[in-house]
Amino acid sequence: AMAEERAFAMVTCTAPVNIAVIKYWGKRDNDLILPINSSLSVTLHQDQLKTTTTAAASRDFAEDRLWLNGEEADVGQPRLQACLREVRRLARKRRGGSAEDAAPLNLSYKIHIATENNFPTAAGLASSAAGYACLVSALARLYGVEGELSEVARRGSGSACRSMLGGFVQWQRGERPDGRDSRAQQVAPETHWPELRVLVLVVSGEKKQVGSTVGMQTSVDTSPLLKHRAEVVVPERLALMMRHIHERDFEGFGQLTMKDSNQFHATCLDTFPPIFYLNDLSRQIIALAHRFNAHHGCTKVAYTFDAGPNAVIFTLADTVAEFVEVVRRSFPPATNGDQFVRGLPVDSPSLPEELLAAVVTEPVPGAVRYILHTKPGPGPQLLDDPSQHLLGADGLPRR
Ligand code: DP6
Repeated sequence: AMAEERAFAMVTCTAPVNIAVIKYWGKRDNDLILPINSSLSVTLHQDQLKTTTTAAASRDFAEDRLWLNGEEADVGQPRLQACLREVRRLARKRRGGSAEDAAPLNLSYKIHIATENNFPTAAGLASSAAGYACLVSALARLYGVEGELSEVARRGSGSACRSMLGGFVQWQRGERPDGRDSRAQQVAPETHWPELRVLVLVVSGEKKQVGSTVGMQTSVDTSPLLKHRAEVVVPERLALMMRHIHERDFEGFGQLTMKDSNQFHATCLDTFPPIFYLNDLSRQIIALAHRFNAHHGCTKVAYTFDAGPNAVIFTLADTVAEFVEVVRRSFPPATNGDQFVRGLPVDSPSLPEELLAAVVTEPVPGAVRYILHTKPGPGPQLLDDPSQHLLGADGLPRR
């Protein structure tokens, strides 16, 4: 006998941003989003950076609708539709197996989705990974689907599959043409390396670049360095990176993180026509990190850059205050001096004169808008408190 159906359901989840230390760049299948190489990332804490998504289904909704940061958006985007289709397929499969769900939600009801970031989209922080991880988490909860969902999030954006888990996460490229083995896997939980800290240097200036999807396709088509990287360099580096993480070896972790970011940007230069994500400021930050490490005689900070000009710095808790001060002296805030450092608290340091003299060269006022201090964190979360839903009982955005 058919169980009684619910007429309405609503679920809210949050999901994190992740930053790759072994980069994903290049697909072998554009539709399924299958990568040419495995990658490895650190999931960032949702206290500082997160996406929140509410998904609702109702007998009374006339059409599927989507709101991004309060603005209605196109629900027909192929990648969003792929995620929706896959979650519904898993729901159907599950019910076909052991249909004991007390009150299943009708899979043909229209849905409303509202999603919001707790960080300014204009800051150019990668939001598609958190966005798709959050969408898939919320839809899965809505339809009662459990278990491995990184495969579904991958269909939204490749890097999104890594945001389905907390801590240190590997996305295995897999071998199968159908992508069933191209999934995220946790290498270590967020509690594994308690001293590890992350500083996001949000930079000023233009944000019009080649998008990742288009950029990596051009690289696959034209860069011999990318081919060599995927076939030879990444497999070696992945094994090494996992060892550094397991041993909490910051020297090894930091060096390899910087080298892999640099090689990713080298493949961009090797792309034809070339793609430039690093700019003068990125190069100043890179040089600053190397001067800082040279002064200390070891790797104290490690930078990494994605397909945009913001810098992400990995360091250990005991180095945060000193490095933040060095950044403040190197890129003195133009206006927002009091809000220059956000996120986790940072102590006020005493900077040795010889460090300043050796590390801070010609200051560039206003180049860094602010620094966000965060750390590794857990995977997507379900919000139990109904007051946190982004949609009201009428299924429309609350604000
Ligand atoms: C440079 O995941 O945004 O951030 O799969 O086409 O959506 P699509 O690309 P996306 O690419 C991210 C590239 C990167 C490196 C990384 O995160 O590994």
